[in-house]
Amino acid sequence: MRGSGAYLPEKILSNDDLSKRVDTSDEWIRERTGIRQRHIAGEGELTSDLGVEAAKKALDAAGMIPADIDLIVVATTTPDLTFPSTAAIIQAKLGVGPCTAFDIQAVCTGFVYALSTVEKFLVSGQHKRALVIGAETFSRILDWEDRATCVLFGDGAGAFVLEAQEAQEAGERGMISSFLRCDGNMVDLLYVDGGVSSTGSSGHVRMQGNKVFREAVTRISQAMVAVCEEAKIPVTDIDWFVPHQANERIIQGVVKKLDLRPDQVISTIAGQGNTSAASIPLAFQAGVEDGRVKQGDLVLFEAMGGGLTWGAALMRV
Ligand code: ACO
Repeated sequence: MRGSGAYLPEKILSNDDLSKRVDTSDEWIRERTGIRQRHIAGEGELTSDLGVEAAKKALDAAGMIPADIDLIVVATTTPDLTFPSTAAIIQAKLGVGPCTAFDIQAVCTGFVYALSTVEKFLVSGQHKRALVIGAETFSRILDWEDRATCVLFGDGAGAFVLEAQEAQEAGERGMISSFLRCDGNMVDLLYVDGGVSSTGSSGHVRMQGNKVFREAVTRISQAMVAVCEEAKIPVTDIDWFVPHQANERIIQGVVKKLDLRPDQVISTIAGQGNTSAASIPLAFQAGVEDGRVKQGDLVLFEAMGGGLTWGAALMRV
């Protein structure tokens, strides 16, 4: 890890604002989810624009320029266009020269999938410096009349700059282990009811929230234990738990199940809601900026989302 950055659109939508659009209340949303507000991309502000802003900050933090990058991977469910990839658009907007660039689609687990994928590209020796971006304009696929989903999500982006190193000795910075899973049999629990080859339109998020909730703590905990077992590190020895920000009750359920301390957790859900693939780098960056996360800390990331997909990654940052 050489640097990180994040970007949130200016416009804020509070729970009270939402209660004027659908039959809900600040109290219901806060008690069930922990969310108080979310950021919403402005008109004409695209996923690639959010990603570019986050990437610029990550490059600055890394002391690098766009030309230093030879791999761009963008985790997103809300691409600017059906094609080309948002990674290609970000590449052009940033002014990175010809390099490898592609998107990853694993919904809310996208950033964990992207980290794990990029690590393999860097370890192979074919690439030296990667931009890993999670960027979403999830507000664009919400049904703003469905109170069960529209209160949960927000827009934003986060980015990491990762650089290959010769060899990773025990205790050195870098990715230690990762765990990725998908079970497409559970597609009905969380999906978008449209797509290029089915309806010809992008569709809206549909979710059986209580069923997703029931799956979450078990699967997320399984992934976290798997990466820690592979690394031969007790889960409780991590410095920071940076979860996907779907629901504060899910996060607290995992903390309790794995005997983590509340002060090991970085939660941004109150101010940002669920920003899907962007939520992990956004939360990580919040921890960096307020001085909690320091170079060399052991950080455990996890996520679960549509697919269902789920996974975890353990990194010394
Ligand atoms: N305001 C008020 N009432 C509401 C709202 C709302 N915004 N939304 C639903 N309700 C009502 C329902 O209609 C239902 O009413 P009824 O009992 O009269 O039928 C009642 O509240 C309970 O509904 P549930 O869905 O059972 O509520 P639950 O306690 O499960 O909370 C929630 C809902 C917050 C969505 C929760 O299930 C959850 O967080 N699930 C997980 C979501 C998640 O993690 N998604 C994964 C990642 S997202 C991704 O991958 C894209």
